[in-house]
Amino acid sequence: MKVSVLGTGYVGLVTGVCLAELGHDVVCVDVVPEKVAAIKAGRSPIFEPQLDGLLVKHLERGDFRATLDIKEIAGTDVTFIAVGTPSKDDGSLDLRYVEKAAEGIGGVLSRKDGYHVVVVKSTVTPTTTECLVIPTLERASGRRAGRDLGVAVNPEFLKEGMAVDDFMNPDRVVIGAVDERAAEAVRSLYASFDCPFLLTTPSTAEMVKVASNSFLATKISFVNELGNICKLMGIDVRDVAKGMGMDKRIGPHFLRAGCGFGGSCFPKDVAGLVAEAGRRGYDPVLMRAALEVNERQPEVMLSLLDKNMDVRGKRVAVLGLAFKPMTDDIREASSLRIVKGLLDRGAEVRCYDPKAMDNFRREFDAPTYCSSPSECVRGADAILIVTEWREFEDPSLYGNVLVVDGRGVVRTKNYEGICW
Ligand SMILES: NC(=O)c1ccc[n+]([C@@H]2O[C@H](COP(=O)([O-])OP(=O)(O)OC[C@H]3O[C@@H](n4cnc5c(N)ncnc54)[C@H](O)[C@@H]3O)[C@@H](O)[C@H]2O)c1
Repeated sequence: MKVSVLGTGYVGLVTGVCLAELGHDVVCVDVVPEKVAAIKAGRSPIFEPQLDGLLVKHLERGDFRATLDIKEIAGTDVTFIAVGTPSKDDGSLDLRYVEKAAEGIGGVLSRKDGYHVVVVKSTVTPTTTECLVIPTLERASGRRAGRDLGVAVNPEFLKEGMAVDDFMNPDRVVIGAVDERAAEAVRSLYASFDCPFLLTTPSTAEMVKVASNSFLATKISFVNELGNICKLMGIDVRDVAKGMGMDKRIGPHFLRAGCGFGGSCFPKDVAGLVAEAGRRGYDPVLMRAALEVNERQPEVMLSLLDKNMDVRGKRVAVLGLAFKPMTDDIREASSLRIVKGLLDRGAEVRCYDPKAMDNFRREFDAPTYCSSPSECVRGADAILIVTEWREFEDPSLYGNVLVVDGRGVVRTKNYEGICW
């Protein structure tokens, strides 16, 4: 099938390249010239394992290309919207990029003959497709959804750092379509996937996505809060989580206590649902608490350091800046609050991350950026482990220096775990 994708970020580029790998002919559209130029040159603008190799393979094969020209979607049968939906100041999702994308697609479709399917892959507030995307597409294209315009919601569940594997081997595919023809078109894109397919309405599909993220975020905040209590009682929450995870009803995943979740999805998707519930007159106490616990965890880590030393004028090494290993993404990362807290306390901050330093430098100029973990910890009075990159597991890095471990990475001589 001929497919176009609007947005070449973590989701759009992975979607485009993986759809080419599944045998489709793909064009990715973005509005940022540098991104499109990099992709055309075979360089992914983001770090994501396996992505560069697949990108080069399909550029060379000629079944994948990138462009700045949205008119190229006219030559395709299906267009995905995979643009960003960041948080606004009030926590609600900023849907203006989705609206703009729908307007642009509608404009091109107004000059194209034949049926065309538009698929919302961006994470949006439930009812957005029904209340914003479809009216915008219909207005701009002069078409009617369900007649000459197919519309579907197909949320993405990939995890950064595992994005290609996750895309190619999903637990499930959720398709919320307005009409059967659109549902069938989206389903046929993934015909080779051996996983359950859930066919439902657009608003339900949107809710499945934000509900899944809200549940996972709540699970993490639960174990973080439990860890804070365990620490007060001299109990290792990691062993507790192991015991809990053996219960099939609970499961072992997302039970790792630490200095908080980050990334472009969990914080914003929970906040978006909280804001939408509030707008409709409901106060979602549990989800608000999940966010509150998460905001406290970086402070918990800093307070452990404060308990051990006055860091003013002291050299503090921060290992890990990305919100999780195997990505360069620092959006909403715990490291942002931790480094700010250290700088506010007057510490001399040295940082190291294998992939995320360029992105972090754009936020904070003040720290010294080091080229290796050993350079980062040299002469440090304290070391904070903020991301669980494998290379931080080497105990010889740490000597006798105080280590505050936010991710359960090492056990050294002079060691404080954040919640164990
Ligand atoms: N990052 C993840 O792990 C992840 C996982 C699942 C779902 N999502 C959701 O997917 C969506 C995209 O997330 P992301 O992390 O890829 O965002 P991103 O910020 O990395 O990428 C968005 C891209 O869209 C481009 N863009 C903006 N307006 C455009 C337009 N009109 N036409 C073409 N391109 C346009 C931007 O230039 C950017 O390259 C969000 O809604 C997010 O919540 C993200």
